[in-house]
Amino acid sequence: MAFFPNTRLRRTRSQPWIRDLVRETHLTPHDLIWTIVVSDSADPIEPVAAMPGTVRMNVAEAAKAARRARDLGIPAIAVFPHIDPALKDGSGTEALNPDGLVMRAVKAMKDAAPEVGIICDVALDPFTDHGHDGVMEKGVILNDATVDLLVQQSLAQVEAGCDVLAPSDMMDGRIGAIRNALEEAGHTDTLILSYAAKYASGFYGPYRSAIGSAKLQGDKKTYQMDPANSDEALREVAMDIEEGADMVMVKPGLPYLDIVTRVKEAFGVPTYAFQVSGEYAMIMAAAQNGWIDGERVMMETLTCFKRAGADGVLTYFAPMAAEILGE
Ligand code: PBG
Repeated sequence: MAFFPNTRLRRTRSQPWIRDLVRETHLTPHDLIWTIVVSDSADPIEPVAAMPGTVRMNVAEAAKAARRARDLGIPAIAVFPHIDPALKDGSGTEALNPDGLVMRAVKAMKDAAPEVGIICDVALDPFTDHGHDGVMEKGVILNDATVDLLVQQSLAQVEAGCDVLAPSDMMDGRIGAIRNALEEAGHTDTLILSYAAKYASGFYGPYRSAIGSAKLQGDKKTYQMDPANSDEALREVAMDIEEGADMVMVKPGLPYLDIVTRVKEAFGVPTYAFQVSGEYAMIMAAAQNGWIDGERVMMETLTCFKRAGADGVLTYFAPMAAEILGE
């Protein structure tokens, strides 16, 4: 390393062409996974109040979104359902319905644009009347009983055409149970993207109103991770890889980039970060107030995920960012 004045680092920043040459991180539409919310509403699209620019879409609109993703070079869509409250119960039975909203949306998207990968959330919270990701008994979320249901939900989603199962529930042992069931059913090519290090976070607030999850009794701290922990994230990831995950995720995104870096360095597996609803809402709210340049901050945050070591980002910004990247 040479020091000043032999080295003047401003030389490699002095013109756009040299900045292009020395850039270490490149963001492309292929790095983006578009998170969408689907619903059975009569309206094709409904705005989500806390997430300006994001909508709930019906199944026909989801099919259009799949074509849009293909045209923008976005490799995959992750789908989250807004379920009619009348269909919810204590154990999230509707999650297993082969003709349920998610299954119909997956079929429509695969028909419209088979080239686009479809990722399904494996979790019960959109379907339970208590808003938790598992079956509850006397206020306790039951691990193994929940895993049995998650396995059934996974198989139903794969039957509908889903390419990637993304368990977001944080029950112990669910990746192994799902992987075994897939092997037994002959679904040897189904990918698993594990929400391996998922934290009990306040950043999920706008999502819960977007999918209309039931008012949560208590909190999710007995299954989602403590934001104060980092070594524990590595143990979670190690277990999920051992159990059969192809790809792992860290969630939320920006406040957890240190976890992304540690996971990528320790395991070298495909590692994704989820820029969650609250992160999206904060950027959009500040932009709408004229306090930040929203587009610029959007692109900056997405680049930072990659710089930290993420192979890609799940984000509500995907189509907006891909449009800018394609210009
Ligand atoms: C639920 C789930 C959540 C999100 C994705 N899947 C919320 C939660 O765990 O309470 C959050 C997504 C977001 O905030 O954008 N299994």
